[in-house]
Amino acid sequence: MAMSAAAMTACGPGKPQLGVATIDEVADAMTLKEKAHLVVGTGMDVHAGTQTGESPAHTPIPGAAGATYAIPRLGIPGIVMADGPAGLRINPMREGDTATYYCTQFPVATALASTWNTDLVEQVGQAVGNEALEYGIDVLLAPAMNIQRNPLCGRNFEYYSEDPVVTGKMAAAYVRGVQGNGVCATLKHFAVNNQESNRMANDARVSQRALREIYLKGFEIALKEGKPWAVMTSYNKVNGTYASESVGLLTTLLRDEWKFKGTVMSGWFGGRNAVLQMEAGNDMLQPGTDGQYETILKAVKDKKLDEAKLDRNVRHVLEMLLRSPRLQKYKYTDSPDLNAHAAIARRSAEEGMVLLKNDSMALPLDSAVRKVALFGCASYALVPGGSGSGTVNSLHTVSLLEGLENAGYAVSDSLKALYLPYLAAGQSKGRLKTLAGSVPEYDTQRLPRELQPAMAMLEAEADSTDMALLTISRTSGESEDLDITDFFLRREETQLLDSVCKAFHAVGKKVVVVLNVGGVIETASWKDKPDAILCAWLPGQEGGNSLANVLAGKSVPSGKLPVSFPLHYEDVPSASNFPINAMQRSTPGGKKDWDYTNYEEDIYVGYRYYDSFGYEVSYPFGHGLSYTAFEYSEPTIVADGDKYTLAVKVKNAGHMPGKEVVQLYVSAPQAGRHNKPEKELKAFAKTDMLQPGQTAEVKMEVRAIDLASFNSQTSSWEVDGGGSHTFWFGASSDDIRDSLRYDVPPLQVKVGDVLKPQTMMRLLHR
Ligand code: BGC
Repeated sequence: MAMSAAAMTACGPGKPQLGVATIDEVADAMTLKEKAHLVVGTGMDVHAGTQTGESPAHTPIPGAAGATYAIPRLGIPGIVMADGPAGLRINPMREGDTATYYCTQFPVATALASTWNTDLVEQVGQAVGNEALEYGIDVLLAPAMNIQRNPLCGRNFEYYSEDPVVTGKMAAAYVRGVQGNGVCATLKHFAVNNQESNRMANDARVSQRALREIYLKGFEIALKEGKPWAVMTSYNKVNGTYASESVGLLTTLLRDEWKFKGTVMSGWFGGRNAVLQMEAGNDMLQPGTDGQYETILKAVKDKKLDEAKLDRNVRHVLEMLLRSPRLQKYKYTDSPDLNAHAAIARRSAEEGMVLLKNDSMALPLDSAVRKVALFGCASYALVPGGSGSGTVNSLHTVSLLEGLENAGYAVSDSLKALYLPYLAAGQSKGRLKTLAGSVPEYDTQRLPRELQPAMAMLEAEADSTDMALLTISRTSGESEDLDITDFFLRREETQLLDSVCKAFHAVGKKVVVVLNVGGVIETASWKDKPDAILCAWLPGQEGGNSLANVLAGKSVPSGKLPVSFPLHYEDVPSASNFPINAMQRSTPGGKKDWDYTNYEEDIYVGYRYYDSFGYEVSYPFGHGLSYTAFEYSEPTIVADGDKYTLAVKVKNAGHMPGKEVVQLYVSAPQAGRHNKPEKELKAFAKTDMLQPGQTAEVKMEVRAIDLASFNSQTSSWEVDGGGSHTFWFGASSDDIRDSLRYDVPPLQVKVGDVLKPQTMMRLLHR
């Protein structure tokens, strides 16, 4: 690197300016110190934004998560990064400013994935990205997109699905939406970050096949279809090497094979060795420490780090800065259109709600239902969700109580008089907090104990109201997994459900359970009790309004599960390889599920397992009822080179308008014999609103390579020739409506032999 010449030019009057000169010219003009600064963020105190006593980064957005180092002499701005994904997370107030800054709390990723509507998810991304733009944020730290491997992962709510195709397509849509604003989106956490226990150091041990087919596949899809400008590495190790220090992951796979052109940043304080991170291609370290800066500087001077590698990383960071709204001197307004975004939050929450059960058409609510008995603390203070471990400073969270009242329903006054003071008292003890407005919001990870109204009161409620609604809630956040007890209903919840059902069923009135959860919980032991179960997930700030619309039938449910609900926790394929009630300490030689986690279930994650090994589930992947009914007919396949277009006709054969999600599963020839899942989702599509009697043709596309399995022996993607593939058109993974067979020609595509496991594992086999 011609450092001295470049430095000399930089001192002269003709200093190359970013945005005017080429990236090469700017990079060549940078001093070694400037380069080391540029690849290290400005520290946790984004507002102060100083680093090693040198030039401040000028980052005026409190609550932002990170920033980059500004080099004014070369026109290099300090840009600002903030968290999503379910809404922009910045501080409500700014220094010397009396205004409060509100953002929209959108439904969490599990809820968005349940819409199976990529256009809608793109709109959510567009809205979150717009709030970032209008509040002066250049880089949104979202979407999060790890596989929901186990129901106890504390961050499942931020992730989309147990399936890589759903994950990848959702993330791609979200990225397209965000980046349409000129704001950078960041795929995180790359890769295999499926547990929070010991997340900074856990070694995820995974076969190359499971990596390729399950854990990396979603990222591959999102990269190709969404073209994000940034990727954030995860904290954990993958087969013995920190993700942020892995040449195989970041260079061989991400850059060379997948042709990623953007910027790679670390998770906050992720990895251990700044030099190895630089070498691996982790372009930027966030939030950045003085120690990392000094280490990089010294390593280059001592010839321990090849300066060419640093230069490569610097160029990647410059690319990100070049695209940033700050470089373009975008004048942010501090006033995004919160009303328009609330409407998107409301629509996406509605479409993401999954009707799990609906005996005797308990829903939609009969027109005779005017007065509702509302049980469960969360009915009065819905958990809206959050971004990372923090809440989004939204204008309000509409509770189910408010949603019902807004929709014209009466809610039992005596129950209001019981719950509201109880919740308000919890609030003063720090259990609940109110950011704005009158509705209490839960503090993350802590829920109040359920109240137990006396049987006499329940009987009086059953007499004086038309039906009962009971909300069950769970919340979690980053750094901690859920406790196994969170998977099951608590004793007090079961007791409440039992007594409400007893009192209301005794007088012939219905009980509907609303699930306000971020991911999978146990349902098998209690699902027979209520008449209907509506899974609302963590539905964002408009949750109560969305719920009221679905309950009343103004919005016909069209959400389907992006995760399977197993019968028992022990049925979960990773049950014996996941931290249960996380042990806190490492042991010499490594503690199982803490220091390392063996992904012994291999590719058999979620429905791939339940289907292939004959396990009954409580609610299958892809399941979701409607108030109307759909009929499928005339499946077709048209081949065009390596591209297959699959189509099926879908008719609304019921009495209400509705949308249907069609799922395309594929079985490889002799799947069982070749240790392949019984069937795998390869594509999906959602119809537009179909009126009763209306038919639409739904088309889906797959490529031959999408049908391939990964062969670790040969490091290649392979499609078997020996027989026909079966294409299944399903309303869920367990409700196949039509199918066809087709002889797909054999195929083999060689790829890099990366990320080999370092230890022997007993992998699950069919
Ligand atoms: C989290 C990321 C987040 C970052 C910045 C990390 O600890 O894992 O999801 O984007 O912090 O807040």
